[in-house]
Amino acid sequence: VIMGKNIGIGILGLGHVGKGTLDIINKNQFFIEQEISPNKIKIVGLADLDINRKPKSEKYNTVFTTSAQQVIDHPEAQIIVEAIGGEYPAYNLIKKALEAGKHVVTPNKEVVAKHGYELLRIAHQNQVQFLFETSVGSAIPILGVISNILTSCPLDEISGILNGTTNYILDLMFEQNITQQEALIKAQEMGYAEADPSKDVMGIDALYKIFILSSLGFRTRLTLDKIHYSGITNIEHEDIELTKKLGYRIKLLAIAKKKGDCLDIRVEPMLVDQNNFLTNIHGADNGIILYGESYGELFFSGAGAGGIAGGSMIVSDIVRIVRQPQYFEHDYLLQDSEGLQVQSFDEEENSYFVRIQQQTKQVGSDKIEKILEQNELLVEKFAKTNSKNNELNIGILTALLKEDKLKKVINGIEKQSKEIKILNFMKRYKNSSK
Ligand code: HSE
Repeated sequence: VIMGKNIGIGILGLGHVGKGTLDIINKNQFFIEQEISPNKIKIVGLADLDINRKPKSEKYNTVFTTSAQQVIDHPEAQIIVEAIGGEYPAYNLIKKALEAGKHVVTPNKEVVAKHGYELLRIAHQNQVQFLFETSVGSAIPILGVISNILTSCPLDEISGILNGTTNYILDLMFEQNITQQEALIKAQEMGYAEADPSKDVMGIDALYKIFILSSLGFRTRLTLDKIHYSGITNIEHEDIELTKKLGYRIKLLAIAKKKGDCLDIRVEPMLVDQNNFLTNIHGADNGIILYGESYGELFFSGAGAGGIAGGSMIVSDIVRIVRQPQYFEHDYLLQDSEGLQVQSFDEEENSYFVRIQQQTKQVGSDKIEKILEQNELLVEKFAKTNSKNNELNIGILTALLKEDKLKKVINGIEKQSKEIKILNFMKRYKNSSK
């Protein structure tokens, strides 16, 4: 594509992010055009199936259509922004646009995680760019940093909070004592949640993001279905209260660690101590820690969800394409085979939070401590609270042990005693550099 004086942009999907993109272009047109001078930006097409999303202003309502295909086919459209979300039809539309020789910018982590390698290959064949900075960390320019700046030494670990919705929900549960359901409704009202919010609360959105970060950060092709993930749906008020008493906060973390040719990648809720950088990532913000031997620890944080945050990075990708329209080579992503192997590092020892609930009023905390002792579960810290129905809930922090061992102990305890029940367990987070 030869860039003309007017760079034609088509936007597919006018939800939070599509609208945010349009708002940023409107608000910062002068600044953006300085960045791409002497070129100018021109919106040539806006598509959404929902006619109510047609912009009010005359400048834009004339280019509005309900047909995405029509925007892709527009002869002046050089860059297509796909902001529909979800796998289909977004994937097909991106593919069509790339095959038609148009650059594509998307925040769509699902499509990038599931089809990114194929789409990059198509972009390569058509000598256009396929950019997705917004897909991870919204306003945090993390993909650009790991791909284009951190090029002098390999990374050993990438960890962080990658889903704004769940971080916002956990914050509300911690501070305002409201239920997960109520908190989710607020997150939806704020425009943070996915159209299908189970993707957020089940850890799937964070899974897509850590997959993308790991593939780019460790310079390797990976397979999505090998990655372990779990979400926050089983976290109850008592877990929040007990971990608070123990001096921790629960955060949904995504962690990828490299050892030799292997990667351990996982998404799961963990306990983070009060002094950790990630504890202070609040609301829908995201926080990312990169660790590499020569870089040491690098921290990034910023808005991880929301239309304006997303729109700002989408426009940055547009500027990048205008400045450098040639396809950017990522050789390792175009190879057919996986580089590093994904497997869990089972030999690692961790400290775990375990929540135990009294099943009959006869057993008190003394008896519970005794049962733990008999089962050789070493306790570092201990807290208790009563649940709504007035059952006693105990939260312990174990000494270091392997997860296998913990599961065996939990099994043993549940077989031995009908008087208590283990309701939840979670790892305590530690950085690999510590
Ligand atoms: N639902 C996503 C989140 C939006 O909450 O992080 C940003 O990717």
